[in-house]
Amino acid sequence: MTVVVLLGAPGAGKGTQAPILAACLKVPILASGELLRSVVASGSELGRQVQATMLSGELVDDDTIVRTFLDRLRGPDASKGAILDGFPRTRGQAVALDDALAEHSARVDRAILIHVPLDELVTRMAGRLICQASGHVYNLQSNPPQQPDRCDIDGSPLVHRADDGEVTVRARMAQQMPPLEEVVEYYRSRGVLATIDGRLPIPEVTTQLLNAVDVPAESRQPG
Ligand code: AP5
Repeated sequence: MTVVVLLGAPGAGKGTQAPILAACLKVPILASGELLRSVVASGSELGRQVQATMLSGELVDDDTIVRTFLDRLRGPDASKGAILDGFPRTRGQAVALDDALAEHSARVDRAILIHVPLDELVTRMAGRLICQASGHVYNLQSNPPQQPDRCDIDGSPLVHRADDGEVTVRARMAQQMPPLEEVVEYYRSRGVLATIDGRLPIPEVTTQLLNAVDVPAESRQPG
């Protein structure tokens, strides 16, 4: 079982890089933000509470996200491992993850921090577009789609995320950086942390990421 955790501030590039890494390692991506957006889309009372929390820029409470995420991690497609995008985000979540993996004699193999200074992140989020069908990620400045309002991959409409407005982005940074730093320290102390410069162009970030998990050259996708 290969478990890789992608860490980084909102907008650092986790969702951009996760599909490339997942394809190389042949494991699924488990993205906590996507899981929570599907809870919101269900229209349940829990979904309404989660939506309010996400729009406020705060983290969803540990009980809810740990239950939701670990249920997903137990899915049959993740039996050989997974790329974890956005989880854990607190020390409590990191401990819960270790406990769950220990039941299968597994552990987090690598935690990779994609580091980007905060000022650059606010600009990035303003230019982000995602596709409605599958969440493919674009950026008006650094990674534009071929047509302005359509996904290159599946042709679905491109939209701004509800929590990408500047006020919410700044709130996300303020609320979420301190617990992220605790998680970074947690993995540093376990000797599995690698840090990558997320200001580099997207293909160079990819190369550093694949180096950090020792993906051999023959397993890397062209381009
Ligand atoms: P989530 O959906 O996980 O959002 P996030 O972590 O805030 O991360 P983002 O998806 O915003 O950014 P990213 O790092 O994936 O960057 P991207 O690749 O898109 O979470 C949403 C909310 O759910 C949270 O705020 C919280 O409320 C809740 N939540 C989620 N997980 C939780 C948890 N575990 N516990 C509690 N609550 C939780 O890139 C951003 C932009 O930059 C794109 O436009 C992209 O094209 C561009 N870009 C990417 N790389 C580069 C580069 N190298 N150079 C230039 N531009 C780049």
